[in-house]
Amino acid sequence: MTFNMSFARFLILIIGFTYSVGLLHAQVPTAAPALDNPETEQRITKLLGQMTLEEKVGQLAHFADNSTGPGAPHADSREQIAKGNVGSLENITGVAETNDLQKLAVEKSRLHIPLLFALDVIHGYRTIFPVPLAMSSTWDPSLVERASRIAAKEATREGVRLTYSPMVDIARDARWGRIVEGAGEDPYLGSAMAAAYVRGYQGARLDDPQSMLACIKHFVGYGAAEAGKDYNSVELSDRTLRQVYLPPFHAAVEAGAGTVMSAFNAINGVPATSNSYTLTHVLREEWGFKGVVISDYGAIRETIAHGTALDGKTAARKAVAAGVDIDLESNLYSRYLSELVRSGEVPEATIDEAVRRVLRLKFALGLFDHPYAPEPASGEKTQLEAGNVEFARTIAERSFVLLKNVGSGGRGTLPLDPKPHTVALIGPLADSAIDMLGCWHARGDAKDVVTLRAALTARVQQTGGHVLYAPGTKILTKDDTGFAEAVATAKQADVVVMAVGEDAQWMTGEAASRVHLGLPGNQQQLLEAVAATGKPIILVVFSGRPLVLSWAAEHVPAILQAWFPGVQAGPGLVRVLFGDVNPSGKLTVSMPRSVGQEPLYYNALNTGRPADGVDLTRPPTDNREKYHARYVDEQNTALFPFGFGLSYTTFSYSPLELSTTQLSADALNRETATLRVSTTVKNSGTRAGDEVVELYLRLRGTSIARPVRELKGFRRITLAPGESQRVDFTIGRNELAFWNIDMKDVVEPASATVWMGPNSAEGQSADFVIAK
Ligand code: BGC
Repeated sequence: MTFNMSFARFLILIIGFTYSVGLLHAQVPTAAPALDNPETEQRITKLLGQMTLEEKVGQLAHFADNSTGPGAPHADSREQIAKGNVGSLENITGVAETNDLQKLAVEKSRLHIPLLFALDVIHGYRTIFPVPLAMSSTWDPSLVERASRIAAKEATREGVRLTYSPMVDIARDARWGRIVEGAGEDPYLGSAMAAAYVRGYQGARLDDPQSMLACIKHFVGYGAAEAGKDYNSVELSDRTLRQVYLPPFHAAVEAGAGTVMSAFNAINGVPATSNSYTLTHVLREEWGFKGVVISDYGAIRETIAHGTALDGKTAARKAVAAGVDIDLESNLYSRYLSELVRSGEVPEATIDEAVRRVLRLKFALGLFDHPYAPEPASGEKTQLEAGNVEFARTIAERSFVLLKNVGSGGRGTLPLDPKPHTVALIGPLADSAIDMLGCWHARGDAKDVVTLRAALTARVQQTGGHVLYAPGTKILTKDDTGFAEAVATAKQADVVVMAVGEDAQWMTGEAASRVHLGLPGNQQQLLEAVAATGKPIILVVFSGRPLVLSWAAEHVPAILQAWFPGVQAGPGLVRVLFGDVNPSGKLTVSMPRSVGQEPLYYNALNTGRPADGVDLTRPPTDNREKYHARYVDEQNTALFPFGFGLSYTTFSYSPLELSTTQLSADALNRETATLRVSTTVKNSGTRAGDEVVELYLRLRGTSIARPVRELKGFRRITLAPGESQRVDFTIGRNELAFWNIDMKDVVEPASATVWMGPNSAEGQSADFVIAK
């Protein structure tokens, strides 16, 4: 398959553009920007012929600092730029500053090669959208694409043409802080989201001044850090690498991603930043990637700490030989590459090839013709655009996951009754604007955030009610002096909304691994104190990872997982709390009952001793109950499984219909056979709502063990009360092939089960057979 894919891709590239095909049949093919244009290649060859070795190395040097003034790491960077010794910079934004530096490169450097400005634009540039884990919970790649397009428009206006996004690392361990930056634990959903980000950032044409390059990161296996500890080592079999961790990268490459960032971690002992197997063999040779590989921040230097290089010179030699084109921050390429070429330790052809790739991107972006950021009419643009803000609210609303909703008289606690009442708003996140932005919020500004407190107060006042606010505690301390006020406030109210969770800056994102996954600080004690008043509580959880909410799941009537929703956090939440919008987000990560279950993911193998039929809610009392793949003190299942999310309405699924129950592996491998599976989904409740219909597969009788379920399709549908819709999926080679015992990606004869349903633990199922 690998060879065929690359060959097919090559053919398509010849005609100038690629289509997003490959892993995701569900996606509509979209034109991806060309990175292979014969005329451009000729211009590059000519330019390369004019460049000195130092100028070539300059294109591979990337300066990373927030300031270019005196005292900064690159105090002489203006001089270096004018000499052509710098190819790209990061963390520099704003029309005035980028244009000023660009002018030095374009007008002063000998060959007038423009600079490329990069930034971590992760979930919005000025208009901050929900964090990526939240955006994945929409299960709607079109929303993610639109958010990325808006981010690209805002960032390019200020000179940024490369974003270090999307992070497409599969994350199966909630302890890892960077789980917030990706699309969760599943490779199929992760692939769909990865391609959507790339399409959004890069648009249909890279030379559109409103397009910026995507950088897919962190290549690869970074999310598999042992014990969820950031930067930790990763041991991965080649099969798991290819089956689980590589697919989102492959999907993004197929969608035309221009750059790839090599990861900090070592994979099976080899640092990802000097790993020729992943960077050259897989990425370039198998996938035909034509773009640029950028190291992660200082990652080339860090190979010394890993222990595979004794000094900077060796670190630079190994990285460039493995396929890293741009040195982000280490400055080891600037320092040693020319010397390494002169001594014959690095062939000049290797440098030429890396420079060619960098220039290819600069040409593709149109930087040679239009190097400058557009001048704004009057000063920098500081106001958010109304349309972008409205979209930020929409995507936030669709990212919230309703985890629990019980009440009296068969009615849930939510939505809130619109009649005037007194609402107690309690918790440290009710009015924290900065936390709503999440980590990596580019040029987002807390002043643009409408908090839950602001939005709820406005809404309740409109109907003559009151909001009583008491923060109760802080996230990062354990001071309980605010508890009494919080409890007294709750007692005066009809209903309590509690806004609890993590500190976005210190507990989520890079270098923010946690071993305690309960509510941080003393928020659990605050929750219990407020719950003791007997008032109904709606728990709104802001977090960048799945938290352990076992106590709340048992004692609190309503729980809404809100993640970090961005600038429109408050308005989005209020519309969901009052039922103007019916919640429809679903989890893209399994929520554990206990941190000891981590790494916890739904698509696990069955083992030889599954605990089927054993009561896991209590410790084993005899050997029949004991000798299973289980814990003696906790259940195996997630508290809330992957794919799960409630609505204010209910949906029912009819038994599945299959177009056939017998397929041939040979025909599937030749792509001449497929199976249609369908169900009818009915809105069996009384409100209109969206349902994400999920398709899962399981294969048995295969040469290697396959997971108990694997997501292979999903679709979001909207149904009026009582309305039904038939939903069908096609299952073919893409859905059924896996890396088998001979490390071939093929369909094997198997007994198969297919599910269509609302989450990874429920649904209608049917069996079929894949014969030889
Ligand atoms: C992170 C990357 C990021 C880079 C540049 C690193 O510390 O791992 O994800 O893109 O910094 O800011």
